[in-house]
Amino acid sequence: MNSSLPFDRFYREHSEKQFSSSLKQFFQSVVLQRLPDPQNVLELGCGNYSLFEECKLNAKITAIDFSPVAIDQAPKSNIIYQMRSITDEIFFSEGEFDLIFDSHCMNCLVEHWDRERAFNNIFKTLKNDGIFAGEFMVQPINGKVEVPLKMIKTARELEEEILSHKFKIIYFMISKDSSFVDEANGEKIFCDVLRVMAKKES
Ligand SMILES: C[S@@+](CC[C@H](N)C(=O)[O-])C[C@H]1O[C@@H](n2cnc3c(N)ncnc32)[C@H](O)[C@@H]1O
Repeated sequence: MNSSLPFDRFYREHSEKQFSSSLKQFFQSVVLQRLPDPQNVLELGCGNYSLFEECKLNAKITAIDFSPVAIDQAPKSNIIYQMRSITDEIFFSEGEFDLIFDSHCMNCLVEHWDRERAFNNIFKTLKNDGIFAGEFMVQPINGKVEVPLKMIKTARELEEEILSHKFKIIYFMISKDSSFVDEANGEKIFCDVLRVMAKKES
């Protein structure tokens, strides 16, 4: 199972709010256009500041992260922040959410069984016709990126992984040459980025 310790250390050293502007852009320009009025939303890996503090929705928002340090630093707002792991055996209720949004959490799951558990949790807790959306670091077409504590698949592998959990992919877009700062050491990671929306079909 992946550990919260490196993330705890990161948030202790960077207690200012952390959020990715690319996630905001993806959510507003892609996800909201296709699902304009979600009522019950779950955010995965919200860190110390949910994306939905920036993208206001008229919805119930639950934002989870397994780092107790991050959740302690989260603002007091009407977003429900909870310290939970996406791999928890007891997760949320079946069919609870109409949108589950991955805020760069799935890339942190490196073990096969963690990923299986996470995808099964996501599928189970979505309503029928509910949407899983996320932005993922993927391998550049010509090259290989390896980052400690991160799983960076090829776009094709990720597509297969999502399809193998019975989702139907409704949006799939790769952009090249993005960069991320690695929380573990502050270094820039250059890779491609895949934005996906996948539906749980009834
Ligand atoms: C790359 S950071 C992204 C943080 C924030 N969403 C942002 O955009 O800056 C990934 C987050 O996922 C959380 N995380 C990693 N594994 C997790 C797990 N198994 N369950 C819940 N949260 C996890 C980490 O604590 C971290 O806050």
